[in-house]
Amino acid sequence: MTAQTTKRIRKAVFPVAGLGTRFLPATKTVPKEMLPIVDKPLIQYAVDEAVEAGCDTLVFVTNRYKHSVADYFDKAYELEQKLERAGKHEQLELIRNVLPPGVRAIFVTQSEALGLGHAVLCAKPVIGDEPFAVLLPDDLIWSRGDGALKQMADHAQATGGSVIAVQDVPPEQTGSYGIVATNTFDGQAGRITRIVEKPKPADAPSNLAVVGRYILDPSIFDLLETTGQGSGGEIQLTDAISSLLLHKPVEAFRFHGTRFDCGTHLGLIEATVRYALDHELFSEAARTLMQNALAEMGVLET
Ligand code: G1P
Repeated sequence: MTAQTTKRIRKAVFPVAGLGTRFLPATKTVPKEMLPIVDKPLIQYAVDEAVEAGCDTLVFVTNRYKHSVADYFDKAYELEQKLERAGKHEQLELIRNVLPPGVRAIFVTQSEALGLGHAVLCAKPVIGDEPFAVLLPDDLIWSRGDGALKQMADHAQATGGSVIAVQDVPPEQTGSYGIVATNTFDGQAGRITRIVEKPKPADAPSNLAVVGRYILDPSIFDLLETTGQGSGGEIQLTDAISSLLLHKPVEAFRFHGTRFDCGTHLGLIEATVRYALDHELFSEAARTLMQNALAEMGVLET
């Protein structure tokens, strides 16, 4: 641990401008970030994680079609009045706590889909000159203790640099992720020496893959401004991080928790099963109905 400390992060960026074509037809009218996992939309899980980590300014980078994300975080006066009149206080609390008191949402438009790096750059005017978080809501992280971003924020404060979440992936999957090489990985964290976006297995420097949680030094913005098209013809956050680590420390951090890739159908199904089985109200019933379904289909013997 060094004596250097980083300011606690207060701002979090949520790139939510993607078209979500993989989930058509559902995403024809509903953004993928609004698809529910049991009782909350995907975006709410990422927001809760950022708030838990201490963020009070949430920056959503959206496109002009995604009104429902902004509507979701806006105050719903009429609905609140109706619930109040009907004495439905529990439901009232649920919609009021979408954003806890003292937390504000800011919406920035990404006018062209030029890539994740470009989406993060769109948030520059709101972030200014302080370290900030980026959360990709597709990556849903379930954990029993502190959320992944809170774990990372603690680590960033202790080490004084940027921090990127990583997990091990099977070697044949490196082409779906940013992949890092570290010098002194102690099992949980290590300084990144190299980062490559979606390398073929033969070119991958390791099988430590970037998961969608980042704590970044604000100098990333200047680097993003000069980052050209990379993998897939897009402006990649990974490429700007590759420049960042030449002059600032960037740590890979293996968080405690399970990550579900809700950018895929199976990831979404897996997350739904996990959150249902862990839900304070539905846990037992969910277990029974899953067992019944498996038995009825002849998959599980009763
Ligand atoms: C993005 C990043 C990639 C990272 C991944 C994590 O890729 O570019 O480095 O590993 O998120 O989910 P995407 O999945 O948006 O193609």
